[in-house]
Amino acid sequence: MCGIIGYTGSEDVKAVLLDALELLEYRGYDSAGVAVRDSGTGEQRVFKCAGRVSDLRMLCAAEKFASGCGIGHTRWATHGGVSDRNAHPHQVGRVTLVHNGIIENYKELIADYDLQEELQSETDTEVVAALLNRFYEGEPHEAIKKTVAKLRGTFALVVMFADQGDVVYSTRNVSPIVATLCDEGAMLASDLTALCRFTNRYFVVPEYHILELHADHIALCDLDGKMVEPEYLTVDWELNSAGKNGYPFYMEKEIMEQPDAIERTIEGRIRSGLPDFSADGVPDALFTDCERICIIACGTAMHAGLVAQALVKSILHMHIEVEMASEFMYSDPVIDEKTLVIAVSQSGETIDTLEAVKYARRRGAKCLSIINVRGSSIARESDYVLYTNAGPEIAVASTKAYTTQLAVFYLIVARMAYSRGVFSAEETQSFIRELQRTPDVMKKILAKRRDIHVVAKRVLGAKDLFMIGRGLDYSILLEGSLKLKEVSYIHSEAYASGELKHGPIALITQDTPVVASVTQEKLMSKELSNIKEVRSRGADVVVFIKESIAQRLEGEYEVVKLPNMQDEFMVMPASVALQLLAYYVSADKGFDVDKPRNLAKVVTVE
Ligand code: F6R
Repeated sequence: MCGIIGYTGSEDVKAVLLDALELLEYRGYDSAGVAVRDSGTGEQRVFKCAGRVSDLRMLCAAEKFASGCGIGHTRWATHGGVSDRNAHPHQVGRVTLVHNGIIENYKELIADYDLQEELQSETDTEVVAALLNRFYEGEPHEAIKKTVAKLRGTFALVVMFADQGDVVYSTRNVSPIVATLCDEGAMLASDLTALCRFTNRYFVVPEYHILELHADHIALCDLDGKMVEPEYLTVDWELNSAGKNGYPFYMEKEIMEQPDAIERTIEGRIRSGLPDFSADGVPDALFTDCERICIIACGTAMHAGLVAQALVKSILHMHIEVEMASEFMYSDPVIDEKTLVIAVSQSGETIDTLEAVKYARRRGAKCLSIINVRGSSIARESDYVLYTNAGPEIAVASTKAYTTQLAVFYLIVARMAYSRGVFSAEETQSFIRELQRTPDVMKKILAKRRDIHVVAKRVLGAKDLFMIGRGLDYSILLEGSLKLKEVSYIHSEAYASGELKHGPIALITQDTPVVASVTQEKLMSKELSNIKEVRSRGADVVVFIKESIAQRLEGEYEVVKLPNMQDEFMVMPASVALQLLAYYVSADKGFDVDKPRNLAKVVTVE
């Protein structure tokens, strides 16, 4: 979490930093700050406050800096509450520093080096600034080397030294930093979003290296001073796809983009009607040589994994587990060279998923990742990568990343079934034809979004809400429920309908609305009985139901009809409908839909 920017060059440094921080704000948005050095006067000043980048902009509106260098930060608080004092940058002596990550041994460092007197905040970051200042005797590399040797934890550090002119220094462990040199100068950031305005070329700063940004060049070396040539990559995202395009919130824009995003994800991976990963360099042997599958992910990405699990079981009849990345390493997972590990991550930076991938590969497993952000850490750590091509996802609540992850899973399942002889060529082609209908089906549900807006008003006042369904419906509702709780702050629980009477039905009253999903024809009769059970306990029930079976309920319940697809694919229209429900509830409540409280888009702390 936390967004970092560093810049030195000929542009208006304050403007470069503030504009970049606005783009990085989705990584953390409880406080923001910049430190700017005017190359004319050599003066270095820090501006920081609790609140948004817009508050910081006001705070330094009157300040003018000719040019020079600077560093900036948007914070997602871990150590120390949200306050002006705890905001970054932190300045101790000749050192000014911003940090992303967690320093686990900061208390020991305070004690070992007697740093307490020098600290003004409650953050682990300021301890690093104090330690670096303690070691600094005019040699930045020496001081950085000594400091990182003492740190335990994860860190991306960006530093200015008061007596080193317009040079920005950086080093990292786990937490990401990308950098570039372009016409306007040299810059670094926690992710590409902030650099895209200037260039589409960048490189990833390797761990435990020292990067120096100068206005006209970049120097990269390892901790022993050996120079390293940066390995430049090219980003192929359209820069304008990061704007709101007239929508009030990114979340709505990203929901609406899903038909195009799915098309981008599957096109180029279908040849002669069959799924084809040759352009991605993923060999069939990966699918034919494994005996078991283990999907590792967090949050929404894990929910995509749960849909894949249901498909793999019913189509491939293979052993498959879905592991929460945060629990994975501590649960003695059964992983060996016959396990295909599939890691799923929008950002490619979620630290739990990243560490789980490293662990699985150490155990001999091959790892295939499904990632949105190109060149991200998980992509780099994996044996193979399938990019989702969803384009930048800015809203904290994931929407198009989720459905494009699902699309990739459909392709994988089809390719596996075909290469393992479970599906004939004709069966595979027919499965893929249904997947190719997804964009049009999504357009139909998006065209009906006003109906979902009407339904959203029914749950607006709820404090608690249940979502119930069976089979794939339950998997979709886990995601629908997460979406609702994160953006609307309504306590929502997804429950497998059959489990409800084993306890939670005690919570159903007339004040507890229930959202049911009925898209699986073979489970419909049982599901309808469960809906009746909650209805007879007073619950106001809204049913999202596949159009072809909707007449069974019409007139009796508030019904939202979902366009027909084969049952295995109904997750696509159903997820869009549930995303819209969450979005409208949040927007109608007047919340900042794109930046829900306490959250951040990229979770780089364990
Ligand atoms: C919820 C959401 C999160 C992420 C999770 C994993 O809307 O976005 O649950 O899915 O933090 O993030 P990635 O996919 O970047 O690994």
